[in-house]
Amino acid sequence: MLLQQSGFGIAVTGSGSCTPQVTLDNNGLSQMVETSDEWIVARTGIRYRRLADDRTSLCDLAVTAARRAIEMARLAPADIDLIVLATSSPDDLFGSAGQIQYQLGATKAVAFDLTAACSGFVFGLVTASQFIRTGVYQNVLLIGADILSRWVNWSDRGTCILFGDGAGAVVLQAAETDSLLGFEIRSDGTQNASLNLAYKAESKALIEGVTIGQGGFHPITMNGQEIYRFAVKKVPEVIEKAVFRANISVAEIDWLLLHQANQRILDAVAQRLNIPAQKVISNLANYGNTSAASIPIALDEAVREGKIKRGDTIAAAGFGAGLSWGCAIFQWGASK
Ligand code: COA
Repeated sequence: MLLQQSGFGIAVTGSGSCTPQVTLDNNGLSQMVETSDEWIVARTGIRYRRLADDRTSLCDLAVTAARRAIEMARLAPADIDLIVLATSSPDDLFGSAGQIQYQLGATKAVAFDLTAACSGFVFGLVTASQFIRTGVYQNVLLIGADILSRWVNWSDRGTCILFGDGAGAVVLQAAETDSLLGFEIRSDGTQNASLNLAYKAESKALIEGVTIGQGGFHPITMNGQEIYRFAVKKVPEVIEKAVFRANISVAEIDWLLLHQANQRILDAVAQRLNIPAQKVISNLANYGNTSAASIPIALDEAVREGKIKRGDTIAAAGFGAGLSWGCAIFQWGASK
């Protein structure tokens, strides 16, 4: 899969992010379930998470993040050809991307949702890049946004300590040189039961002989140890595969940008790949696991802090429910 073959390259030219105002710290959580700041920090590295209140929609967060990314790319919303919204918690199950397109004033863009849980941003990056690579679209807005606080069981201490809400976005543009160096994305449905936000139906008879199932989605259930084992095994493998496809070496990676699930997972993956800690981007202490939003939020913060610079090589890897996992290797910024 030689990416550069078609002649249309990809540049990642803008980033933006938005998190809700409300902060919940670990001491606050210990008022709700039997836990402690020490336990949560030691097992996860998480200290705070931002939570969306009942007046904050997914579209609100996504639109703000998107505006910031479009502005950094020096484009106007009307320049955008395609909007991909990676989310598992839309405001509307029919899709929230159309509402975002409207609120942004991205009048010419086609917009759709993509669901791949915490791998959503990486899957979205690969999906969006295909439209550029084939020459169909020039300017693509990719958003990763989730409000998982809507779906967390707040009395389950095994999961409620992990998640937070937020949105991040990037702008991808057609370019002469190609900054998307390689990728690898994977799925394994056999382990689907390890992490679920499942619909549960109850039987309802409409008329004699016609029965449907009507119910609702139930809060997140997770086997933490299984997910932990899956992540530390599969994520280094998929990064190595993407590195191979990119025709670079692991040592050439400037920044390891993993889905921000757990500091222990970040450390273990970096250790397996022999990537030094100073190359690992981590902001999960402040936000927890924001699902599809975690990679673009961390990217945006590192870019705006001046940490990630133009031309730096980033290995971005997502992993989570599905199970799904993947890695995209790209260079930041418009080519010089
Ligand atoms: N506070 C205090 N104790 C807790 C606790 C909490 N919030 N959650 C669980 N415990 C307890 C358990 O009940 C268990 O007690 P026991 O030994 O008396 O039965 C003990 O701590 C160990 O539980 P365990 O589940 O083995 O802990 P762990 O070290 O695996 O840590 C996670 C739990 C969830 C932090 C860890 O498994 C994890 O991060 N997994 C990956 C999850 C993830 O990233 N999911 C999203 C992927 S996108």
